[in-house]
Order: sequence, then C-alpha cells, then structure tokens
Amino acid sequence: MLIKTFTITPFQQNTRVVACETTRKAICIDPGEKCEEIVEFINGNGLELQAITLTHGHLDHVGGTGDLAKSFPQAQILLHKDDEDLYYGLPQQPLFMGIAPHQMKALGFDYDAPPKLTRNWEHGEIYEVGELRFSIRHCPGHTRGHVVLAEETEKKVFVGDCLFEGTIGRTDLPGGNYDQLIDSITRNILSLDDDVTVYSGHGRETTIGRERTSNPFLTGQNQSTRGRFL
Ligand SMILES: [Fe+2]
Repeated sequence: MLIKTFTITPFQQNTRVVACETTRKAICIDPGEKCEEIVEFINGNGLELQAITLTHGHLDHVGGTGDLAKSFPQAQILLHKDDEDLYYGLPQQPLFMGIAPHQMKALGFDYDAPPKLTRNWEHGEIYEVGELRFSIRHCPGHTRGHVVLAEETEKKVFVGDCLFEGTIGRTDLPGGNYDQLIDSITRNILSLDDDVTVYSGHGRETTIGRERTSNPFLTGQNQSTRGRFL
C-alpha cells in the first residue's frame, strides 16, 4: 500500500492519497482544500484516481472535493448518507463555526456548492481499490455519518476525526454525541488488532494497541467529555 499524506488547511488536516502498488488504482481520503500537489502526486506517480472517499462531511475534510473532481472527473465521490446535510451545506458550514459571512473569503472559507455524490457508504461493505480491500465501518459520534476505512490485511485504518493519538474527536458540533463516539470507537475501531496503524485526520499516526492502553478517553482515566479537532 502506498500512502502519501498532505497536511493542509488552516486546521492542519491530513489529506491522504492511498494506492494499490500493483494496479496503481488510488483513492484520496478527505481532500481538505484545493491542493495542486495532490494532483501532481497522482499524475506524477502514474496513479488512477478511482474515488474521493470521505470519512465525514466537515469542511476541513471535504473542502477540496470540487477542485479534485474537476481534475479527475471519472473519480467516484463517496460519503455516508447521514453526513449529506453537512456535505451539501458546505458553503454554510463556516457559520456554525462562528465565522461571519463577510470573513469567509478572507479566511479561506469561501466554498462553492460541492459536486454530487456518486453514492453513499454502507456499513459493513468491502470497498476494493485494486488489490486493497477496505471494510467500511459507520462510526457516528463526531458527526452522524462518520465512517472509518480499515484495510485489515495491510494492518492500517483511516479513522478521520474519530480517534487521535491520545485523544478523540470533538462532539460539541452539530450531530456530535460523546457516548455514541465512545461506543463507535469501542465497537468498530478497538476491535482491530493491536498492531494496526491508525491514520487520523489530524496529528501523528498511532496504533490500536497504544490507544487501547494509553488513550485517557478509552482507559477511563479522563472523565472529561471534550475531545479535540474539527
Ligand atoms: Fe471533523
């Protein structure tokens, strides 16, 4: 598996291109904003962008979808149905973050309406990218329609904003629910093996084993119900 991370947007979001090294078929997980280096990386490495695969609908994860789709019009665009309101409401999302309409352009949050989704993720489906097989797991709590993509043979999971090194996603935004997030992580992420590498939407990589034993939100040490990151 080929993985290239681009840390972009004012939120230091991790956009990733993930490819099958045998077939060169690729996906882009969560294009956060317009980024020419992503297009150059895909073309320069002879990759075929099969899909833009969205973990959830927050602006720092979907803001670059329209521009990337213009460069790769054949690529599918996939998102869970429960985050469609966030996705199609992208131009209005800065408002619920407290950014005033007249500030949007200056701060780089001036979005066009995003392109139409190809289809929705189904919990439990296996999504194939060449020889890679991702199991799609619905993990509501950070948003209603958040999914994670687990490649169990390669021992890698892409968790968006559910889980981070030492913390979890915030649950105080619309659609967030702390108890639901803990339940999602427990059922659908911690059920993976300890040696699976965790690729989060912000911050560094970690492992399932490290988070299972030391993440204070998962060990019960932390009684706060405030996670981090948009
Ligand atoms: Fe988010």
